[in-house]
Amino acid sequence: MKLIKHLANLGYGSRKEVQRLIRTGAVTDLEGRKLDETKLPPHETILVKGQLLDAPAPLTIVVNKPDGYTCSTKDPGITVYDLLPPRFELRNPVLSTVGRLDKDTTGLLLMTDDGQLLHKLISPKTVMRKVYHVTLDRKIEGHEAELFASGTLMLRTEETPLLPATMEVLGEKEALLTLTEGRYHQVRRMFAAAGNHVVALRRIAIGGFALPEDVEEGEWRAMTADELGLLWK
Ligand code: URA
Repeated sequence: MKLIKHLANLGYGSRKEVQRLIRTGAVTDLEGRKLDETKLPPHETILVKGQLLDAPAPLTIVVNKPDGYTCSTKDPGITVYDLLPPRFELRNPVLSTVGRLDKDTTGLLLMTDDGQLLHKLISPKTVMRKVYHVTLDRKIEGHEAELFASGTLMLRTEETPLLPATMEVLGEKEALLTLTEGRYHQVRRMFAAAGNHVVALRRIAIGGFALPEDVEEGEWRAMTADELGLLWK
């Protein structure tokens, strides 16, 4: 039962389907010997159809989000869950996105099944730096950095001013923007308030964790314990 439950929680199928997998010999040890469904050997010694198992919970992954993918599970269109193996949708606990990126924002997205971590990361009490690479439609005029740093910028429909944000100019139409909060469409609305228009937006870091170079656009991997620590730096 233990092995069945473990595999079912990892999304390898319903309990019945997993039981069938085990009974037909698709679940083996590292030597290819059929496993007994009543026992649970160490996770890293179990193979399904010759492949090592996905990482168990708690799992936090880094995704390099492409343009055009939504972060919602309910969206009928293409979502970030389509970047993961289909069995991930059956995992228990399931992976949730840590906050959201707009459909047309690219770059660093975290997903986790660790409820406590998720809560800590998205809590309004947590001060977490998020760095965005912004490409603009019009030239930067020079007043933007001061406006964003002022702590007095009010976006339409908001009741409180934005916390100070840091802008570093990279080029005529390019900047890095560092925020410590995450309001709806915040970066796009900030530049709209400054009279400009964001044409491309890419998140490149959260806390001290930068989007790793080995995770290509559209790809993902598990985060290491060291990388998780960097989030708080
Ligand atoms: N700000 C935005 O406008 N969009 C995002 O996706 C993230 C931050």
